[in-house]
Amino acid sequence: MKKLSLDLKSFLQVVREFFRALGQGRTYNITKNWYCFFGILWGIPVPFVTIGIDLYSSAISPTVQNVMQIITLHPFHFFFILHPLLFGIVFGAMGTVRYNKEQKIQELDKLKSNFLSMVSHELRTPLTTIQGYISFLRSQKPGELNQKQEECLKISEEETEHLNRLIEDLLDLSRIEIGAFKVNLKSVDMKEVINKAIFALQIFADNQKVILENNLPNDLPNVYADKERLFQVVTNLIENSIKFNRRGGKTSINAFIPGKNNKITFCITDTGIGIPEDSLDKIFDKFYQVDSSQKRKYAGCGLGLAIAKRILELHQGKIWVESKIEEGSKFFFEIPTYSLKNNPL
Ligand SMILES: Nc1ncnc2c1ncn2[C@@H]1O[C@H](COP(=O)(O)OP(=O)(O)O)[C@@H](O)[C@H]1O
Ligand SMILES: [Mg+2]
Repeated sequence: MKKLSLDLKSFLQVVREFFRALGQGRTYNITKNWYCFFGILWGIPVPFVTIGIDLYSSAISPTVQNVMQIITLHPFHFFFILHPLLFGIVFGAMGTVRYNKEQKIQELDKLKSNFLSMVSHELRTPLTTIQGYISFLRSQKPGELNQKQEECLKISEEETEHLNRLIEDLLDLSRIEIGAFKVNLKSVDMKEVINKAIFALQIFADNQKVILENNLPNDLPNVYADKERLFQVVTNLIENSIKFNRRGGKTSINAFIPGKNNKITFCITDTGIGIPEDSLDKIFDKFYQVDSSQKRKYAGCGLGLAIAKRILELHQGKIWVESKIEEGSKFFFEIPTYSLKNNPL
């Protein structure tokens, strides 16, 4: 019963939107509204068919005079002659309804982006103050701390850092959505970037009992990249490979010397839980997580890979994944090497 009333409500909504569209000039504008044009085309055969059937069934030859006679004899033909116009109006109104919907979606999208950006900025300011006070207290300048107090502050520091990264991800997403996400490309030594990421994640890996193995070749050429942004990509990939690993598992980082296309492929391999096949193309969508249940034991909000994908696109590179459930995953990404051609002096 409830479902029926819901359907009736949406039906009435459609009817209301349709009639509203009939009152909009766009419905009748063939040049702006292709639906109207197609409606007219769709309606054109109708009078020909009805008059044709009439002529055929009365065995009359199709001369202009006979056609005029048939039309005056059966005035309902006028109704069919009007069909191209009627179809034009009905199709045109459907086009306007669609246009109105798209406009509304665009407006909502803009509103959402503004909201996202506003909330993230507003959250960041007090968080920076909190982080400042925590590190001030930890420096013991305002007074000595006992062991318990120090432990509490350490946990607060870790949690605020976590929150900070979440807010940075939300800010990045809002920058991507308004087209303000930019990269600053220079010559970058990826060994340095990856070593820094490994160093930052070593404690996490030790806690999770995951071995980090760095197999980068020594003679790796520099890439043409934004160092900070690539650090962000690599950190997220290595962090994922630890987070979704099993205890006693391994993460290895490899790179393949560029072929003819002058691009280096990096690969982060783990021995973790793997990704189901039907999720492989979705994990790069914003907020997508394979397990998004409330009981989920992994931290994160599903933005890391979406941001990584955008960063690599801005480097004329790409990211992709191969994975087998229960066996592990391999995340690959490719970026151009640095050459003087990239950066003419
Ligand atoms: N190495 C991996 N092994 C298994 N699943 C992964 C791995 N990396 C990413 N995923 C899946 O892709 C999802 C999206 O990853 P990401 O965008 O980094 O978001 P988050 O780490 O915040 O969940 C993860 O929630 C997880 O389900
Ligand atoms: Mg992640």
